[in-house]
Amino acid sequence: GKPTQDELKRLAAHRAVELVEPCMTLGLGTGSTAAHALDRLGDLLRAGALPGVSGVPTSLKTEAHAARVGIPLLPLDAASIALSIDGADEVDPDLNLVKGRGGSLLREKMVEGAGARFAVIVDESKLVPRLGCTGAVPVEVVPFGAPHTLGLIRGLFHGLPGFHARLRTTTVPEGEQGSEQQPFVTDNGNYIVEMFFDGGIRGDLRDISDRLLRITGVVEHGMFLGMATVAIVAKKDGTVAVME
Ligand code: A5P
Repeated sequence: GKPTQDELKRLAAHRAVELVEPCMTLGLGTGSTAAHALDRLGDLLRAGALPGVSGVPTSLKTEAHAARVGIPLLPLDAASIALSIDGADEVDPDLNLVKGRGGSLLREKMVEGAGARFAVIVDESKLVPRLGCTGAVPVEVVPFGAPHTLGLIRGLFHGLPGFHARLRTTTVPEGEQGSEQQPFVTDNGNYIVEMFFDGGIRGDLRDISDRLLRITGVVEHGMFLGMATVAIVAKKDGTVAVME
């Protein structure tokens, strides 16, 4: 029958792992697609096929997963990362990405920005004509004054039809009183603002990025512009397309 979405994620991940050579330092991505790459790397390392390979994790979750499957870990340091492998939430025709719907955008951007090459691994459903088409564009903000920072972000897009932004929350189960909404907290102890654009972002992405990053209180955002060097896309028919 037709491959499931999870099988497509695995297909793209395994294809990316073929780019890995002995003694490489890798950037290890976060999410359900990147998890398949970690499993595959673990298998190859245990079989002795990739001597000297180690990785820099992009989240606490990936750090734990990589340790479990036996990938030696390194901190992000001067050590040069040859190749990062990570999923994405959206990929546009220029290989600009939305990442961080899993909340790990800051460490992902630091690690993937430090490496020479970045292979983004996705199933076909992640391809979009324009970033912001399919859901939130996340922005990591410091908890201090988060409602104020949210207001400044809203101000940037004031008057843009269909734009809205909110603080990401998670539901915490809480005994008799039922459940409670609390701010989602990142691995870095920060909060996430989610921006929504009706029909995707139509403006100049670089300009929007610069304006966001100029807001004091914004730490980083989930638009990854000009960072991916190759996209490995698993298609519904089970073939793989490589976009460079
Ligand atoms: C994590 O914060 C994200 O950037 C993920 O890389 C992205 O959400 C893709 O995740 P999936 O592979 O689970 O779709």
